[in-house]
Amino acid sequence: EKGGHRHFMAKEIAEQPVVLADAIAHYLQDSGITLPEPGLDFTQIDRITMVACGTAFYACHVAKYWFEQIARLPVEADIASEFRYREPPIPARSMALFVSQSGETADTLAALRYTEGKADRIVSVVNVLESSIARGSDLPLPILAGAEIGVASTKAFTCQLTVLFLLAIKAGLDRGTLTEAEAEAHLATLRNLPGLMNHALQTAPEIERVAKELAEARDILFLGRGAMYPLAMEGALKLKEISYIHAEGYASGELKHGPIALVDKTVPVVVLAPSDALFDKTVSNMQEVMARGGKVLLVTDAEGAHAAREGTWRTLVMPGVPPILAPILYALPAQLLAYHTAIAKGTDVDQPRNLAKSVTVE
Ligand code: F6R
Repeated sequence: EKGGHRHFMAKEIAEQPVVLADAIAHYLQDSGITLPEPGLDFTQIDRITMVACGTAFYACHVAKYWFEQIARLPVEADIASEFRYREPPIPARSMALFVSQSGETADTLAALRYTEGKADRIVSVVNVLESSIARGSDLPLPILAGAEIGVASTKAFTCQLTVLFLLAIKAGLDRGTLTEAEAEAHLATLRNLPGLMNHALQTAPEIERVAKELAEARDILFLGRGAMYPLAMEGALKLKEISYIHAEGYASGELKHGPIALVDKTVPVVVLAPSDALFDKTVSNMQEVMARGGKVLLVTDAEGAHAAREGTWRTLVMPGVPPILAPILYALPAQLLAYHTAIAKGTDVDQPRNLAKSVTVE
């Protein structure tokens, strides 16, 4: 049942190119982006409130960048345990969007109940269509990841992102902030992602070597800018969940506002940075780390590796991808880093201590 892999997590990481291709084929038909009835009309929506927990929340946080950039739509993304008790106002013409692999997370379900009768539309992005969250929404959208058994979420995250990206494109088209040609270019990039993911997975042996050294660390920082910032938090979450190494994800620009005080030669800093418009700024953040003896593990593309050149401790080179979709591709090295670091430490990867796959009590 593990398909020849040592752990469910390894299997679930490895099958992402296939499940992603399935999800893309399901939603992207000849006529364009196809949603189940009753569909969605983003001309009726002025704002999206996204709510989730853990990894699913980081998917929302990435999607906030997409909806804002592609569809010029204001988005609030919040964790369910805060949202539900804050009693936030839900203005008219709001869409509430809940993301949950299991569809049974207690806080997310309670947040959904709070928006009933307040939001114009309640949409969910779920892996389990027979779940309470799916049944409680007026448009449940399956992510089609297949059963996810490993406690640490991997393929559900990249499939959630895929569905959210398609929604952002649909929103851009409906609202006229995106031309057909621009949308087609984004969708072509999305269709190419499974192939790029296969290439990214080939860095596993290199990641395994780096992970042996990361396993010695007590604290690890993850940095990213733009939509790579939530991915930095996801990378840190994955690592702490299964390797029990303390890790924090930060926006690169926040480094000098505090966390840089932690940096010395014992604290590796993982920088998730495709070569994009903000790459130079990230390079200067890296230099600040290196000037304090910090060991930088840079995850970038060939262009970024060339531009950053000297001083990094290790560099992992990913295939080139248009920056907007980099969070999906770079999720793979983040997952592999966590996985191989946990293996090097000998922890129970599929059943980490203190964690349950589905958190049905608050
Ligand atoms: C992290 C992880 C958790 C879940 C969170 C939400 O690897 O698995 O953070 O993402 O408990 O679960 P769902 O998506 O089922 O609502």
